[in-house]
Formats: sequence, C-alpha cells, structure tokens
Amino acid sequence: MEKIGITVGVPKESGAGETRVAATPDSVKRLLKFGFELHLEEDAGLAAGFPNEEYEKAGAKIVSAKEAWSNQLVAKVAPPSEQEAPSIQSGAMVVALLEPYRNAQLLQAFASGKVDALALEAIPRTSRAQSMDVLSSQSGIAGYRAVLEAAQHYGRFFPMMMTSAGSAKATKVTVLGAGVAGLQAIATAKKLGATVEAYDVRPETREQILSLGAKPIEIQLEESGVGQGGYAKELSDESKKRIQAALDEKLSKSDIIITTANVPGRKAPILVSEAVVRSMRCGSVIVDMATPSGGNCTLSVPDMVIDVNGVKIVGHTNYPAMMATDSSNFFARNLVSLLDLFVKRQDTGGSTFIVNLEDDIIEASLLVHQGILRMKGK
Ligand code: NAI
Repeated sequence: MEKIGITVGVPKESGAGETRVAATPDSVKRLLKFGFELHLEEDAGLAAGFPNEEYEKAGAKIVSAKEAWSNQLVAKVAPPSEQEAPSIQSGAMVVALLEPYRNAQLLQAFASGKVDALALEAIPRTSRAQSMDVLSSQSGIAGYRAVLEAAQHYGRFFPMMMTSAGSAKATKVTVLGAGVAGLQAIATAKKLGATVEAYDVRPETREQILSLGAKPIEIQLEESGVGQGGYAKELSDESKKRIQAALDEKLSKSDIIITTANVPGRKAPILVSEAVVRSMRCGSVIVDMATPSGGNCTLSVPDMVIDVNGVKIVGHTNYPAMMATDSSNFFARNLVSLLDLFVKRQDTGGSTFIVNLEDDIIEASLLVHQGILRMKGK
C-alpha cells in the first residue's frame, strides 16, 4: 500500500491504573493497509497483553517515548498529562478520550500550540459513527465488569438455587440508567440468573429493558428526559423529587444496585441517598459506575470499596482497564474506523490524509483545529 505520509505515534499510557493501549497488533495491520506508519512506545501494549514482538510482526516500529510523542498523529486512550502535552509537536493531531468538559486548560494549550485535538467522547452517537464510538464500546465492557465486581463482593448466589443443603432466592438487582453501560449490566445480571429491574428517564429504554428479560420501573413525569444526540437531559427539581420517592422504596429492597445514570457534561444525578444505603440489608452491594462524574450515590468514593453498616459501595472509575485486552481491542478498532474518515482515496490509486470539517463526525469531535478552539456552544 502506498504511504500517505502520516506516522501514528502510540505512547504508553501513564495514568494510574490505565492498562489499555490505543493500538493493537490487529489495528496496526489495518492502519498500515490505509497507508499510515505506526510508531509504538516500547511496552505500550504489555499491560493489555500485547508484547512488542507482536506489534513488530504486524509492521509497527517500536520506539522510545520521545519518538512516539513526536509524530504527526498521536493516538492515546486517556488525555495527555500536563507533562506529556508539550511533547506533541505543532501541526500534529492528538486523538484520545480528552475529557473536554474537565480539560478546558489542556484544550487551550493545544490551541495555543497549534495542535489539533480530537476528543473521542465528542463523536456523535449516530448510526454512521457506531463503529467509531469509543464511549459505547468501553461502556459496554464496563457494564459487564461492574456486575462481575458486584458478584465478587456479594456473599450469595445470583440465581435461585435449590440444593440438598438448602435453597437460595434469586438476587434482586436494580439498574439505574439504561444507556450503554446499564443495558450491558442488565444483560449480564440476567445471564447470571438474577431478577433484574431497571429505571431510566428516557421512555424509549422501556422496550430495551423488556427485551433483555428485565422489568422496567415506570414513573410518570410531566416532562421527557430525552435530550440531544441520544443522551438524557437535566430534569427539573420537581421531577427529580418524584422519581426519588418512587425509587427509594425499590432501592431499599434491592440486594444489588448498579448505577449508571449520566447526563453528558454534568455532574451525575444523585439517586441513592445515605438513608437508602442505611435501609439496605447487610451484605448488599452498590456499584456506582458514575463515580468519574461525581457518583449516583452520595456515599461512594472514587476508586474505593467502602462498607456502610455491611453494605458495600464500589466506586471504581476505570472498569475497562480491568479488562484491558478486550477494551484495547475494541478501542483500537474504533480508532481504525475513525482514522479511515481522514483517508481520501484518489482515483489514481494513492491516498491522502485530509481533515474534512464537512464530515459531521470530524466536525463534532475535532475540538481544536489550526489553533482555533471549536468546542464553544457544543
Ligand atoms: P449513557 O449516556 O449511554 O447512559 C446513561 C443513562 O442514564 C441514559 O440512558 C440516561 O437516560 C440515564 N439517566 C440520566 N439521568 C437519569 C436519572 N436521573 N435517572 C435514571 N436514568 C438517568 O452513558 P453510558 O455510556 O452508559 O455510561 C454510564 C455511566 O457510566 C456514565 O456516568 C459513565 O461516565 C460511567 N462509566 C463509568 C465507567 C467506570 O469505569 N466507572 C466506565 C464507563 C462508563
């Protein structure tokens, strides 16, 4: 394949507990076919189960950290740290989960340094963008892992069990928020044999909850919880109170609560109060998946498992990193589909790398372009 003159640098992730990597040997092969070259920092894939030799076999060059950062395109999972960001050269592009709502300063620094910045979380949730939707691929994994985590901390069976030594009732699992993570959590808890109920402010989730064999919790509201782009919107105080009253009773009787309620760019809604936690049976487990955005439970602590009167509250902030091989596989495949958008094939056979702002996916996710901060108003 003819080269397009762009080398993708893949640095090793440096964040605490981040085991994922933005490229895999499989994605390297695909990107080389597009005409990219790949420079991977030594051992960048090791924690995800991909040794250097496999990348080399796929056609990547193993380089130092400095060399990985100094390419025209830098692909990462997490945002570059304050120390790392200046290593990206002017005129280059960085593609990562940049956490734009929390990283205004970083984006400003990219704009000043003329570094283009593409935030993977800003990719719209449309059908065309599905194959590039990193948030969805990672949330699905997280929803699955969150249920396994709950099972790990729970001292009972999930399914109903009848044995000669006695019987056990099926575990009651309540899932709050039936987006990508929530639906996967429902499916996983059902597969493990639990009885599952779920609640979401968006009415269209009802059918999805039912199709997974779970029971939707229905609460009538005066307003719709549907916002733009397939996400939820912030609800009025009146609606929040009504939901809370209806949910509290259900939650108190749950053995396991998995919370995934989220409105993009906002602090997570509080749905599990201290009073509810204290009313739950000893041995119950709450997995608060929303801890990265403040938590759905008042008592949860990021990256800690705490015990309140025998009720465990699990606050891990990076479930995908606990399943780094598959998370990296999905992440890297999403990235391949995304980078394909930048490759313009010529009728004559060659390809070029083009930033086409008329493409709605690039338009929405390229938050810094040629020194201009484009995020305002999004
Ligand atoms: P999503 O946007 O697809 O789903 C969130 C759901 O919450 C939506 O269906 C929305 O309608 C619902 N929701 C919003 N407000 C609500 C309320 N007051 N009551 C009930 N439902 C409400 O998001 P996704 O991708 O499923 O992620 C869910 C959460 O999990 C997010 O907070 C995300 O940051 C977090 N997450 C955490 C990870 C971790 O490792 N801890 C990994 C991946 C995601």
